[in-house]
Amino acid sequence: MPTTRTPIIAGNWKMNSGIKEGIQRCQEIVKHLPETQAEVVVCPPFPHLYPLSEVLKNTNVMLGAQTVHKKASGAYTGDVGAFMVVEAGARWVIIGHSERRQYYGETGADIREKILLAQNNGLTVIFCVGERLEERESNVYLDVITRQMNEVLDPSINFDQLVIAYEPVWSIGTGKTASPEQANEVHMHIRQCINNINGDKTTGEKIRVIYGGSMKPENAAELLAQSDIDGGLIGGASLDAKDFCRIISHAN
Ligand code: PGA
Repeated sequence: MPTTRTPIIAGNWKMNSGIKEGIQRCQEIVKHLPETQAEVVVCPPFPHLYPLSEVLKNTNVMLGAQTVHKKASGAYTGDVGAFMVVEAGARWVIIGHSERRQYYGETGADIREKILLAQNNGLTVIFCVGERLEERESNVYLDVITRQMNEVLDPSINFDQLVIAYEPVWSIGTGKTASPEQANEVHMHIRQCINNINGDKTTGEKIRVIYGGSMKPENAAELLAQSDIDGGLIGGASLDAKDFCRIISHAN
């Protein structure tokens, strides 16, 4: 990747770990954090945010939420608003993860509202896109990515507070990683989509596009060496502080 794009390594803990375990993991991450140019983000479950913000104060590890509600506040039992995660210490948020699309029926319109609201609250958004296995096999994956981008993004989005995560659904939690070439092809396509959406030739070159899907210490170096892969969104391997730090060490 060109040096002008700062790498990002983000851990998506999903619905795993109690708060005590989360605190210990963060202490270990801080202890083993390699010298790095990368921005490092940890996205734990909501109840971890405030306690972890205390642990990560004055460190180079930032906090992110895994989603936020699309409305600012109100009668939405069980949900969490963007301003609340900011108050709890988050600076980042993952939006549009395929598990949210699959299990909560999040649509492009929902995702768009969430991104606008999150950005208005000062959060940097990791917006996830990715095709399912049958879409890869029937060779329509680039069309799927184009559609997922076009239904959510337009020039009113703040592209400086946006990172795109390419997460092929068939590679999430399956141990099946996209090959570096497969991932890089889609990352280049994502930059082209961004240029088309924003009507210029520079936004796509500047925006950071990270890969997610069974990234681990063993395959991170090869993926991160690709010209258009600017980092990783790590699920399973981010639950082990040492593995997470080994991935970070490949991100310069
Ligand atoms: P995985 O998850 O690394 O466990 O495949 C990635 C993600 O869902 O963000």
